[in-house]
Amino acid sequence: MGGRAPSLREQVIQPIQNPIEMHETLAHVVTKLSRYESYAQDFERAFGSGEITADKIAKALEQFLLTRLSFDSKFDRAQTGKAKLTAEEERGFQLFTTEHDSGNGQPGAGCFHCHGGPLFRSRDFANNGLDSMFKDLGRYGVTKNESDKGKFAVPSLRNVEITGPYMHDGRFGTLEEVIEHYATGVKLSQTLDSEIELKHGIPLSQEDKRALVSFLKTLTDEQFRFTPGPPPSTLLSAGKPLILGGSFGETCRCTPSASRVKGNSRHLLQNISLTFS
Ligand code: HEC
Repeated sequence: MGGRAPSLREQVIQPIQNPIEMHETLAHVVTKLSRYESYAQDFERAFGSGEITADKIAKALEQFLLTRLSFDSKFDRAQTGKAKLTAEEERGFQLFTTEHDSGNGQPGAGCFHCHGGPLFRSRDFANNGLDSMFKDLGRYGVTKNESDKGKFAVPSLRNVEITGPYMHDGRFGTLEEVIEHYATGVKLSQTLDSEIELKHGIPLSQEDKRALVSFLKTLTDEQFRFTPGPPPSTLLSAGKPLILGGSFGETCRCTPSASRVKGNSRHLLQNISLTFS
């Protein structure tokens, strides 16, 4: 995401209309939801009237996202001594949080420069070397500042194992592909971040790559993944059936939870599109 949306509420509905994401119209979404009596009842409970509008959908989704807190991953539990990381996970964590040029002969992967802190997101926008020619100009679309071309919002990596496909255009299906990108796929451009430009990619052995993936998987919070949304009696109830409703098609591979939510509405809204299909 290029940071186009000024608020979460606006952000949650943008991917619905974006041609490279869901390519839908809000009016059509309203029509589709209106076909289900149960949604009218949920909107009634949440908003006092069963009429479904784009504005109410946005409010419900926003409220839902705001309730999604994740703090019980294996990584979190290891911090408080309630779990122990394996040697490989621990090695991945070290790589993640160590400079490329550590000065002690043990170069790290430098991921923390952008994905640091408790949310594993410490920078707002960056160009992580996906392209040398930009199809989507990212942050530039908002600021019109040359230096923002090809920069995208740095995503939190909490629950990243279950939030693929990855990057703003979903170009990578697996975490292995993402790591391979940082190791060997980084493309040069004017705005490429200097942390990644270093040696045109981050030198990583096969072992290092596996360790990084193992570490990223420790950020999965099963509790978060399988805890259903808030109780129906609150304002939030309109958000709940949109995401968790029993109308997932037979072919849906996703868990019927909002497992894909992590502050990145693209993933959430993909689930919703499945609900409608
Ligand atoms: C210079 C900042 C920067 C550094 C350093 C960096 N990343 Fe990223 N990362 C990003 C940005 C920006 C995106 C999102 C790009 C997009 O949406 O197209 C991203 C996306 C990702 C994603 C996909 C998340 C998703 O939900 O789509 C993963 C996984 C990831 N990075 C892991 C890592 C790892 C592991 C490292 C270290 C090897 C690393 N990153 C280093 C900026 C960075």
